[in-house]
Amino acid sequence: MRFTGKSFLIVGASSGIGFSIANKLSENGAEIFTTSRDLTKDFPGKKIQFDVSDDPQNLNLQLPDVLHGLVYCPGTINLKPFSRLTDQDFLNDFQVNVLGAIKVIRQVINKLKKAENSSIVLFSTVAVKTGMNFHSSVVTSKSGLEGLSISLAAEYSSSGVRVNTIAPSLTDTPLAANLLSTPEKREISAKRHPAGRIGLADDISSAALFLLSDESTWITGQVLHIDGGLSSLRV
Ligand SMILES: NC(=O)c1ccc[n+]([C@@H]2O[C@H](COP(=O)([O-])OP(=O)(O)OC[C@H]3O[C@@H](n4cnc5c(N)ncnc54)[C@H](OP(=O)(O)O)[C@@H]3O)[C@@H](O)[C@H]2O)c1
Repeated sequence: MRFTGKSFLIVGASSGIGFSIANKLSENGAEIFTTSRDLTKDFPGKKIQFDVSDDPQNLNLQLPDVLHGLVYCPGTINLKPFSRLTDQDFLNDFQVNVLGAIKVIRQVINKLKKAENSSIVLFSTVAVKTGMNFHSSVVTSKSGLEGLSISLAAEYSSSGVRVNTIAPSLTDTPLAANLLSTPEKREISAKRHPAGRIGLADDISSAALFLLSDESTWITGQVLHIDGGLSSLRV
């Protein structure tokens, strides 16, 4: 897949899946605009400082007129029993996972419409399809994000903007560090997946690149489960 002559915004490119996507797009010829809250971190692209609580207009002003793709990576794994989750937990999760995406999309949608074909990729979680203990806050938000994704896919289909969501299972990134902090935890997690291992950022970024590319121009409004078989197989 070549991306020469195309421009992409990757929100949250300083680590994990976003970092891997940014590297692959860059290696394949794309011009990339990348964000983090901390510009001292080492990551590729034209770096822009952005926190989801910031005014996204400041982000927009640093972008070109035409964008061929947007990837929104910020997310949370705030796992607690329902009885311990506060209103603030639900609001924080909603802000990072959903409202941040809404604010960014609102700012860049006209740039995406200016490209002949463009693609938005969002990130949900396997736990939306397969209920899991202690996930009620994050899954409330990620379900909303999936709803946003399919609604926008419909609304912008005639403008040449595709919108898809990837729903990963446990993937070895800084976000999941607490869940993978010992060899025992890693082994138990690997065994839960029919494919026999946990995910790598590379597994997820490969799918994202496909969804950003011209190889997938007939795919929109989908949730792609990249989860080592966890959500659909019993073996
Ligand atoms: N890893 C998993 O096991 C897993 C499983 C299911 C779903 N997912 C989803 O996949 C997506 C990517 O996850 P990941 O594992 O790659 O996470 P990650 O390694 O923590 O990377 C998240 C990226 O988003 C940025 N970010 C985080 N909070 C932000 C905020 N408040 N404002 C602006 N930027 C923010 C981070 O940048 P800075 O910290 O530098 O600002 C970082 O570049 C997330 O939406 C996550 O929910 C991950």
